[in-house]
Amino acid sequence: MNGQTNCSSMGSSWKPAAITDTADQKWYKPIISLNADQSGNRDVYKAFRFSRGLLGAYFRFLASHEYRMLRKVEHLDFTPDQVRRPSDAAPTIHYRLIEGRPVKEIAAGKGVPDNFFSQLFTDVKTLHQHGVAHMDLGNSGNILVSGRGDPAIIDFGSAIPLSWLPTPLQGWACRKDILGVLKLWHRFDSESMPLFLVHYYQSNYRKNIYTPRRFLKALRRWVTGGADKEGLSGLTTVISVFFGLLVLVSFT
Ligand SMILES: Nc1ncnc2c1ncn2[C@@H]1O[C@H](COP(=O)(O)OP(=O)(O)OP(=O)(O)O)[C@@H](O)[C@H]1O
Ligand SMILES: [Mg+2]
Repeated sequence: MNGQTNCSSMGSSWKPAAITDTADQKWYKPIISLNADQSGNRDVYKAFRFSRGLLGAYFRFLASHEYRMLRKVEHLDFTPDQVRRPSDAAPTIHYRLIEGRPVKEIAAGKGVPDNFFSQLFTDVKTLHQHGVAHMDLGNSGNILVSGRGDPAIIDFGSAIPLSWLPTPLQGWACRKDILGVLKLWHRFDSESMPLFLVHYYQSNYRKNIYTPRRFLKALRRWVTGGADKEGLSGLTTVISVFFGLLVLVSFT
């Protein structure tokens, strides 16, 4: 691990190639680029588009938050290392590329390697022991299969230090991560999933509604009469989202 590399030394060798398709991308999403330096080391460069004004301050906060989370876990085997921030004034972070493919692609092709998800399950528990909850593990884009077939976890933008949360919410955050892993395990390699975990997943997994888009969808469904079809569940969803957000905002 070498988290102290000075990025300004990259100078003119920095030639980012976009990984994400910037034309299609939403304005608030970061642009992910790749850089290879002269020695062939490859870095990921994650940059938000705005660095000025209120939005700039917000994106700088996001970049600095992800940087801090990654610094806490970069020494682990399954996370990006050599994490850097070129400057506090820029909403960007750099870290080492993990040579591998998203789990979704591997699952759709030859299938995930043996024991991939049990290893991921163990890795997530290790992450928690190091005091960090990832909070977006159900998103298959955040799990890579490394060249050696091991799991790697990326995208610590939503991660939170467990110490920020009161004890009951710490348990909730850890369970959310575990359920994210179980969701992917069930989707991509359900045959290798132990039965007790299948049962745990089926009785505990709830679709994540704590995002503004899903919140609005739930609200619209309820206002436009979706509640008729779904009975009380639409209303319950809206109320639970409201209180969920309230709790999150109060404690973070
Ligand atoms: N260290 C890395 N090694 C390899 N690929 C990476 C790495 N970091 C990012 N990527 C690639 O870039 C993609 C987007 O990265 P990331 O998830 O960090 O960005 P994001 O904009 O927060 O994504 P989303 O909001 O869709 O979760 C990943 O799905 C992966 O394909
Ligand atoms: Mg991601």
